[in-house]
Amino acid sequence: MEVDLLFTHIPITEERLKDHTVIVIDVLRASTTISIALKNGAREVIPTVDVPSAIQLAENLSRDNLLLCGEREGRIIEGFDLGNSPIEYTADTVNGKSLIFCSTNGSITISKTASAKGTVVAGFINAAACIDYIIGQNDKFLFICAGNKQQFCLEDVVCGGLMIDILMKKLEKDCRMTDGTEAAHYLFKKYENGYLNLLRQCNHGKYLQSLGMGDDLEICSALDNIGNVPVYRQGKITLNSAEVISS
Ligand code: MLT
Repeated sequence: MEVDLLFTHIPITEERLKDHTVIVIDVLRASTTISIALKNGAREVIPTVDVPSAIQLAENLSRDNLLLCGEREGRIIEGFDLGNSPIEYTADTVNGKSLIFCSTNGSITISKTASAKGTVVAGFINAAACIDYIIGQNDKFLFICAGNKQQFCLEDVVCGGLMIDILMKKLEKDCRMTDGTEAAHYLFKKYENGYLNLLRQCNHGKYLQSLGMGDDLEICSALDNIGNVPVYRQGKITLNSAEVISS
């Protein structure tokens, strides 16, 4: 069993993705928003690498049942339908819609994993469900923290450490850990009793509070509150097929 963790998306290479199941983590806020959008009935979320590709994709698709979503500097992009606050993604707004989604770090990270064996999108709100889904599917796991503008983000790494802890306990067998997974697991132990406090103290959490988006932190810190498994395949994120059949 091999478990590795990258602190940002920058070191992603084809070699690292090959044969690996990837877990993309962007706690604040892309992972959380995507999970909530799908729970509230969005048909699919299509991640893009930048704003021009999001706009171009929207121009090439019928605007019926399509929403253009995303943020820059945490705020809605001009001309877009939705920003990146999970509060915006209610069932009334997203049910039955396709969402083109462009965020500063999360959507790029997800898009870069296209050649992995599989990719799930995870945060605190669906950590255990994602581990349940990937376990038994592979023996090579790569956790990728989205980070912020190519820099380490504490909240993503703590969430990675939490998921590694769940994985190790469930597997009850030896995992080949890297320095990255050891460090994430160590940080998880420091913060495991207070994810909301962690989000209030970390750099991006403070920034979101300064924009008046402090309520988002409560949603993003609610451990296993959603429990679905967004799966990225063929350019789109949808719920894993078992969840779709049972809903
Ligand atoms: C991102 O993908 O960069 C984040 O989700 C930023 C944000 O908080 O909107």
